[in-house]
Amino acid sequence: MSDTAVRTAFVTGASSGIGAATARALGACGFAVGLGARRTERLEEVVKDVERAGGRAFCAVLDVRDAGSVDAFFDAAEAALGPANVVVSNAGIGFARLLGEYTQAELRTELDTNLLGPMLVARRAAPGMAERGAGDLIFVSSLNAVAPRTFQACYSATKAGLETFVRVLQMEMEGSGVRASVVRPGPTGSEFGADYGAERTRRVLESWRYWGGMRELRWMEAERVADAIVTVAMTPRGTHLDVVQVVPVGTRKGPL
Ligand SMILES: NC(=O)c1ccc[n+]([C@@H]2O[C@H](COP(=O)([O-])OP(=O)(O)OC[C@H]3O[C@@H](n4cnc5c(N)ncnc54)[C@H](OP(=O)(O)O)[C@@H]3O)[C@@H](O)[C@H]2O)c1
Repeated sequence: MSDTAVRTAFVTGASSGIGAATARALGACGFAVGLGARRTERLEEVVKDVERAGGRAFCAVLDVRDAGSVDAFFDAAEAALGPANVVVSNAGIGFARLLGEYTQAELRTELDTNLLGPMLVARRAAPGMAERGAGDLIFVSSLNAVAPRTFQACYSATKAGLETFVRVLQMEMEGSGVRASVVRPGPTGSEFGADYGAERTRRVLESWRYWGGMRELRWMEAERVADAIVTVAMTPRGTHLDVVQVVPVGTRKGPL
């Protein structure tokens, strides 16, 4: 398949933040975009944004924790737009809890959304891509995968596990024409963490600063992570941006 034929992309977690920005960016690059998440009214707003900019988009409800929902989303998006050349597995969730504060249900929600979900998405998307001889599976990880943080023990473990999963997928897909890639963002402005509350946010940031997890209190725009995801998707065949870390540039000169 030629690079110019890459024209349909599905994005999970496209109702806000990085996923919504990625759907808009892919739409602006000429991709027909299939958007999935649980909040369909928010997805419809992003579909309108893509269409207002002259693009084509479709949305359907998706809960990545449920294989039946993943399969139904792919069936509907494929019927509307055709099979995806690019799938961005972006849906994710993160609580700010010390381990003892978690309920089992919260641990399960983080594990199922951030680790099982991408596996179910890849399991549904990869065989068709391999049959067609080309495709991109792009997984949104986190800096936490390599620099784990307090208050995010489970979240950090899910992202480290996700990157291990993608490494194995890369090996299993080699020679098929399917590239599996990790995009690993640092702190990004989105709805992620918006529900922590002021006191919890203060404690968490103080702890992260102590452990070296947040040297500067700065966030990137979600659009900057979307730029990286589009770059990975648009990289000419023959080259593979297999792991791309995106962080805000440091602004202070440190002691040298
Ligand atoms: N913000 C950061 O600082 C940061 C840094 C590194 C990595 N990340 C990663 O970036 C990704 C996107 O997060 P964000 O920052 O853009 O946060 P966000 O604004 O909260 O977006 C999260 C998205 O995931 C979706 N989602 C959550 N659970 C889902 C489920 N079960 N099924 C389908 N969709 C689900 C949400 O949609 P619904 O609620 O409508 O389902 C939403 O669209 C996540 O994987 C996150 O771990 C974020």
